[in-house]
Amino acid sequence: MKERGTVTVFADPEATASGVASLLAEEAKRAVSERGAFSVVLSGGATPRRTYELLSEPPFRDAIPWERVHVFWGDERCVQPGDPRSNERMARETLLDKVPIPRDQIHPLRCAESRPAAVARYESLLRAFFAPPAVGGPDVILLGLGDNGHTASLFPYTPVLAERDRWVAEVFVDAATGAGTTAAGGDLWRVTLTAPLINTAAIVVFMATGLAKASVVREVVEGPYHPDRLPAQLIRPTHGGLRWFLDEEAAAHLRLSGKEP
Ligand code: 6PG
Repeated sequence: MKERGTVTVFADPEATASGVASLLAEEAKRAVSERGAFSVVLSGGATPRRTYELLSEPPFRDAIPWERVHVFWGDERCVQPGDPRSNERMARETLLDKVPIPRDQIHPLRCAESRPAAVARYESLLRAFFAPPAVGGPDVILLGLGDNGHTASLFPYTPVLAERDRWVAEVFVDAATGAGTTAAGGDLWRVTLTAPLINTAAIVVFMATGLAKASVVREVVEGPYHPDRLPAQLIRPTHGGLRWFLDEEAAAHLRLSGKEP
């Protein structure tokens, strides 16, 4: 099922992290040589941490034209940027503080002070950066997958799933109702990119590792289309590619396990 994406299976989380780092380095070089800039949207969560560390070290660090890279975030918890739950903090500590990327090309999604202002500010930033006749959507959007089928902060049965026009929205994650069951979720406001923006990307990469993700990976990739329950199914890039980078454990329940479809 091509619209559900192509699947690449790696031996373990380290190989998966390296696979994603290679893809980002290749796409960065290609975009910069073709158009002079590369835009990447980073995911939060624990899974991409090792990828970010690898990108901050040779050989990836030296292969990427950092002076031409623009970094955005797919979602953010509305906490101060120094809070341990901040996606910005994780990416800065593991990657952005260690590479020669111009500071004004890092575009954090900060919503601790005012969510409506943050939503409006990020929406205009993205519209200015990506709206035609500029470059189109982001070159690469990196996403994780929650064990309840959420991605970015598109949580099951939340109003943001019906969004058709706006590119940025606020979401309340209520641990008690199950909309947001990750340990770092809790009762928390978040701001997220919406499916309409994510689907403008040239490449969307879902990254998942570990046996705990195997069932939801199977459901999202091969199960019936129920995007209200499995919001990750909303991600179908209109003109771009959808790639799943999984380790053997996360791919264990896929019929395609171990093969390129
Ligand atoms: C976040 C996310 C979220 C995450 C998944 C998977 O900020 O929490 O962007 O969508 O990617 O919950 O999280 P793990 O990688 O920690 O399993």
